[in-house]
Amino acid sequence: RRGSDDIEPTPGEKASIGDLREAAKACRRCPLWRNATQTVFGEGPDSAELVFVGEQPGDQEDLAGKPFVGPAGRIFDATLEDADIERQKVYVTNAVKHFKFEPRGKRRIHSKPNAGEVQACRWWLDSELDLIKPNLVVALGATAAQSLLGKAVPVTKMRGEVIEREDGLRIFITIHPSFILRIREQEDKQAERERFLKDMRKVKRLM
Ligand code: URA
Ligand code: SF4
Repeated sequence: RRGSDDIEPTPGEKASIGDLREAAKACRRCPLWRNATQTVFGEGPDSAELVFVGEQPGDQEDLAGKPFVGPAGRIFDATLEDADIERQKVYVTNAVKHFKFEPRGKRRIHSKPNAGEVQACRWWLDSELDLIKPNLVVALGATAAQSLLGKAVPVTKMRGEVIEREDGLRIFITIHPSFILRIREQEDKQAERERFLKDMRKVKRLM
C-alpha cells in the first residue's frame, strides 16, 4: 500500500510539489479515494505568491484531474481576469482532493466533505503551503477557511478580512464561487458577482 509517507525526495532536498502530487495519487488517508476517478492535486507555480484554496473538486474536475475547470471555475477565472490577477501565476488547490458525491441517476451530485475528511486531507494542503510559502492565501468558502484556520469561520460575516495565523501565514476570507452559481435571482446574482470581484481586487492589492 502506497501512501503519503512514501514521498522520497533526493537526499538533502525537500520534496517538490511534483513529488507531493505523485504521492497524493495513492493517498488512502480517508475513504474518499474509493469512488472518485482520481486525486485532483493543486496546480500552479511552486513559487506562487498567492494561493487559492477551494473546497473539493467537482464532477468536471474529477474527470479532468485539474482544480476549478467546471462551472465554478469559469466564474473564478472570469473574476480573476477582471481583477487583473493572472491564473497562470497563482497556485490553485482544494481543501479536499477527491470528489465526494451521491449518485442520482446518471448524475453525480456534490456532497459536502465532513470534518474528518477535511482533517485527513489537511496534511496535503499543509504540505503544499509549506513548500510554496505564499505571501497570501485566499480561502474560498467555509470548508477552505475551516481547513486553513482549524476552526469554523462565519464566511459571509468575515469576507474581505485577513486573518493571520500563529505561523504568520495570512488568510484572506471570501465566499466560494459556487455560492454565486446557486443564486437564482439575476439581480442578486449580479450583486454577488460584484462583491466577489471587489474581494478579488482587494486580494490583488494585498499580494
Ligand atoms: N469547487 C471547488 O471547491 N474546487 C474545485 O476545484 C471545483 C469546484
Ligand atoms: Fe487522501 Fe484527501 Fe483523497 Fe482523502 S480526500 S483520500 S485525504 S487525498
